Amino acid sequence: MRDHEDMSACSSIKLFLFMVPLVLISVFVCVNIGPKNQSSFLTTSSSTSTNLSPPPSLPPAPSPEIFPSLPPSSKVEFFQGDYNRTIRLNPINITTTSNNVTSTASSEVIQKRILSNLEKVEFELQKARAAIKASSIDDPVDDPDYVPLGPMYWNAKVFHRSYLEMEKQFKIFVYKEGEPPLFHDGPCKSIYSMEGSFIYEMETNTHFRTNNPDKAHAFYLPLSVVKMVRFVYDRNSRDFGPIRNTVRDYIELVSDRYPYWNRSIGADHFILSCHDWGPEASFSHPHLGQNSIRALCNANTSERFKPRKDVSIPEINLRTGSLTGLVGGPSPSSRPILAFFAGGVHGPVRPILLEHWENKDNDIRVHKYLPKGTSYSDMMRNSKFCICPSGYEVASPRIVEALYSGCVPVLINSGYVPPFSDVLNWKSFSVIVSVEEIPNLKTILTSISPRQYLRMYRRVLKVRRHFEVNSPAKRFDVFHMILHSIWVRRLNVRIREV
Ligand SMILES: *[C@@H]1O[C@H](CO)[C@@H](O)[C@H](O)[C@H]1NC(C)=O
Ligand SMILES: *[C@@H]1O[C@H](CO)[C@@H](O)[C@H](O)[C@H]1NC(C)=O
Ligand SMILES: *[C@@H]1O[C@H](CO)[C@@H](O)[C@H](O)[C@H]1NC(C)=O
Ligand SMILES: *[C@@H]1O[C@H](CO)[C@@H](O)[C@H](O)[C@H]1NC(C)=O
Ligand SMILES: *[C@@H]1O[C@H](CO)[C@@H](O)[C@H](O)[C@H]1NC(C)=O
Repeated sequence: MRDHEDMSACSSIKLFLFMVPLVLISVFVCVNIGPKNQSSFLTTSSSTSTNLSPPPSLPPAPSPEIFPSLPPSSKVEFFQGDYNRTIRLNPINITTTSNNVTSTASSEVIQKRILSNLEKVEFELQKARAAIKASSIDDPVDDPDYVPLGPMYWNAKVFHRSYLEMEKQFKIFVYKEGEPPLFHDGPCKSIYSMEGSFIYEMETNTHFRTNNPDKAHAFYLPLSVVKMVRFVYDRNSRDFGPIRNTVRDYIELVSDRYPYWNRSIGADHFILSCHDWGPEASFSHPHLGQNSIRALCNANTSERFKPRKDVSIPEINLRTGSLTGLVGGPSPSSRPILAFFAGGVHGPVRPILLEHWENKDNDIRVHKYLPKGTSYSDMMRNSKFCICPSGYEVASPRIVEALYSGCVPVLINSGYVPPFSDVLNWKSFSVIVSVEEIPNLKTILTSISPRQYLRMYRRVLKVRRHFEVNSPAKRFDVFHMILHSIWVRRLNVRIREV
């Protein structure tokens, strides 16, 4: 865990209480997301659902794994476990502020209303799946802002269509329960800035947010693990319990108060955390960890990160809270240094890097500490390649810093799923080096021809828009890319009453 978290808040505080009675539902969940291999972007396995045509299966063929992201017990559990049952509540008052229903109704009436809402939501998703599936044969789509194109994308057209469908359809309900600073708040500066900036964007967003949970395709649990570590974690006793209880209590609160969590056992719910302990916090509640979509910086597949269900988000070190001065850098001809790294020796990868390259070679500038008088960002701007090894956890803010400064990133990590790997082909604009290959680093980098380097450099300049933080968010920027990845995960889940 790292300590340089800046607590400047970018919060918006809203508290409303919803009361909606629960109906019976059990779910069918089917998850299968690409890319498992080179060109897949979005794949869905077809469910046994009868009245829906199979969801899209985009190139290449989906992996045979049908329930890769669910716990070993999942399919069984979903159908035969505790949740395979009918829950009936006594008629209770529904009082919602948003969907303009204030009534006392019998559970039957309520049941019908919610069922048909779910069907509507699923129908919209099905339309989107069909449109995305058709996109590979459609004519190119126009876009006033940006048309994704090039080998940075596994499938640019599919991505574009999926993005446009997201803009057209995707509605997210943000639970209003919970109080800042643990909820509805997060850091907007520092390496954990994504937590705060995402929460803030989400809560102030008018396009994707709905106040009517019956219309929502996905449900956001607006918690901040960074804030929990700061405010409820006991550093002296090193007891994770208080964080665990906070997360669990929150899930229990919303699953008690609304029918939506139980209806999908969390599969259409998501959290976002940039903290190293985000994964750990998510396992505070078994269904949150196992079923929900987890947008994480710490996307370590050895720690149960599941690319088909979870979303890898970039770690972005916003020292001042904004992008000012971060984006830009000279052309390759003005980058005299071949490769650069400077940083603390922590985690499993960096000691190996330093052992082999610290002060060993003038082309590979690897430092524990920057030489006096040199600026970190100048070094990045003067380098062709920027080495981004994992530190305490798999993600590194260096990756985005490299992209921002026009330096081709060299990813060295094991078990890391780079951000937006569902859409982006990282091999086209970064160099991926395994930990074992560290001794060959120079050979690997020098074997990249100047022409090939130039291509990678140009792609870096193009993809970096997907990593830019804007307030308010702009189309195709990091906020929208995160939403898009969540959208794709949601498209790959089908929830239905049985
Ligand atoms: C669970 O659901 C299946 C099919 O939907 C049904 O056949 C079975 O009897 C159910 N089990 C329980 C314990 O309700
Ligand atoms: C609904 O709420 C009203 C006002 O709070 C209360 O008087 C009434 O008894 C409630 N109805 C039911 C069925 O609980
Ligand atoms: C609720 O809906 C009715 C009819 O659609 C409308 O007249 C009324 O103003 C709405 N109330 C609120 C609080 O939005
Ligand atoms: C959801 O399930 C939990 C656990 O079974 C239960 O305690 C809770 O009351 C349910 N939620 C609703 C809204 O019925
Ligand atoms: C990823 O997770 C594994 C298993 O917990 C751990 O051994 C490894 O160090 C992690 N990677 C990094 C870079 O932290």
